[in-house]
Amino acid sequence: MSDIRCIGIATGGGDAPGLNAVIRAATKAAIVEHNWKVIGIPDGFDGLIWPEKSFELTLDSVSGILPRGGTILGTTNRGNPFHYKSADGGTRDISDQVIANAKKLGIDAIITIGGDGSQKIGCELFQKGMKMVGVPKTIDNDLSATELTFGFDTALHTVTDAIDKIHTTGASHHRVMVVEVMGRDCGWIALAGGIAGGAHVILIPEIPFTIKNICDYITRRESGGGRDFTIVVVAEGVKLPPELKENRRASSVGNLIGNAIAAQSDKEVRVSVLGHIQRGGSPSPFDRVLATRFGVAAVELIAEGNFGKMVALRASKIVAVDMADAIGHLKAVRPDGELVHTARAIGIGFGDEEI
Ligand code: F6P
Repeated sequence: MSDIRCIGIATGGGDAPGLNAVIRAATKAAIVEHNWKVIGIPDGFDGLIWPEKSFELTLDSVSGILPRGGTILGTTNRGNPFHYKSADGGTRDISDQVIANAKKLGIDAIITIGGDGSQKIGCELFQKGMKMVGVPKTIDNDLSATELTFGFDTALHTVTDAIDKIHTTGASHHRVMVVEVMGRDCGWIALAGGIAGGAHVILIPEIPFTIKNICDYITRRESGGGRDFTIVVVAEGVKLPPELKENRRASSVGNLIGNAIAAQSDKEVRVSVLGHIQRGGSPSPFDRVLATRFGVAAVELIAEGNFGKMVALRASKIVAVDMADAIGHLKAVRPDGELVHTARAIGIGFGDEEI
């Protein structure tokens, strides 16, 4: 058992719907179950560089935050105490200062809620003696240690709603509608959102495609299937065919692919880049429940003295995995996996040779 009186909570990396639900659940469980003091650390680990900015989280201060998107603690995807950017443009290691400041605040253990980057920092702080527990977060759902991260389901709701709307206008104007979605280097949002939204073509980083194959698909769909509009969902991380690669920096991949389809077909094409609306809004019921389970489980790990662990969802159960094992492994979509198979079975194209 651990001798804990006060815990800190930090949110790091890009925000995701459900962060506030974790903060609320962990704060409530810490206060109600254990009578611990809870300190909110603002803006990821940056908050421990300026400890005076930290503030106490109480039952009152977390009341009403469950349905709120974003994070009441603030976040950053730049702050890393092991590579802190100094004013002279260089980087230095200020992790000792961060640990000392946590001690000054009376913090005995920290819950770090974040993606791979935040968990890596958490793991390094743990290796330096700080009592750390991790909660995984990302709308991209690309952490291999956990079957699901909260934020993903809410992002899928947003993407599905957007594709539904794009469907009606695309069908009315007989256009090719390209929808670019987030997901970083993995195609989970595009694949699941595309299936949920009834997309016809889904382009993901894990499956190489050509513009010609997409245009052939559209022609087949129009001539054989009698359909005169097509929805193409594009993951932001797709690997562009060589002829488009040079322009990647100049434009969004959705626009590059949309322009290329327009140039190689006689179709009118319109492009929508969904962007950060996928990260915003109120968390879905599924994400609220998952985030709450994660928050409570993180507090339980601290109570058990089980540090250097990250909570995860496996076979529908919340488990603890070593932070060190959880980091650095991307969970890519498997091109031969069940979800891609399902999509192909209902006629969805991936821009590759397989029809
Ligand atoms: O990891 C979440 C995510 O939204 C990615 O899908 C996207 O590539 C990235 O963050 C965007 O980051 P930023 O908010 O820094 O533009």
